[in-house]
Amino acid sequence: MKITNLSVRFPNIEMKFTDYEFQSGVTMITGRNGTGKTTLLRALAGLTDYSGTIINSKTMTYVAQEPVLFNRTVYENIIYSLEIRKLEIDDEKIKYLAEKLSLETLLKRNALKLSGGEKIKVSIIRGIMFNPDILLLDEPTTHMDLESIDELIKVIKELKKEMDIYIISHNKSFIDAVMEHEYSLGDRNV
Ligand SMILES: Nc1ncnc2c1ncn2[C@@H]1O[C@H](COP(=O)(O)OP(=O)(O)OP(=O)(O)O)[C@@H](O)[C@H]1O
Ligand SMILES: [Mg+2]
Repeated sequence: MKITNLSVRFPNIEMKFTDYEFQSGVTMITGRNGTGKTTLLRALAGLTDYSGTIINSKTMTYVAQEPVLFNRTVYENIIYSLEIRKLEIDDEKIKYLAEKLSLETLLKRNALKLSGGEKIKVSIIRGIMFNPDILLLDEPTTHMDLESIDELIKVIKELKKEMDIYIISHNKSFIDAVMEHEYSLGDRNV
């Protein structure tokens, strides 16, 4: 994935992103509040208009900071991404990932009643069920307790063998634990 002359314009603001070629492995996207990190991931995921060039031939999943889940069980939310693509449901994989993230007892619960951290975990599992090439995570640790952050670190270390992961984070210890490359948007006021 490579970005060249990338910029995103909103009515009151234009964000210009430094040219960057993403490497394989884990890339942390860092920078102060409002520097355009979320906007960048949304542009990469095709969720916002931009000018310039994004060269990418890989499949991607974007996990938002406040994920949108459906008024269904956790399990039904997870298999949704497979159902819409008419793919086979791999219950073993769901069980494996749910256990890794301490979510196995919640699979039958209503997803809307989960805590913020639990919702992010569900959204991550839902996003990776169809093996995307790239996983985009927007501040996944925000609502997570310390144990959950440790679990997420372990999951990321396993997942990075199978996919590239671009992560926005302000959490220093989390960044130190998983970062392999950094794309810094710095501290400029936009
Ligand atoms: N849909 C929008 N319409 C207008 N302005 C927007 C929109 N989305 C973001 N912005 C503005 O663009 C700038 C960058 O926002 P963005 O959410 O990308 O920052 P961020 O780096 O993710 O910040 P944070 O660390 O607080 O999450 C901000 O000034 C924000 O107000
Ligand atoms: Mg953001």
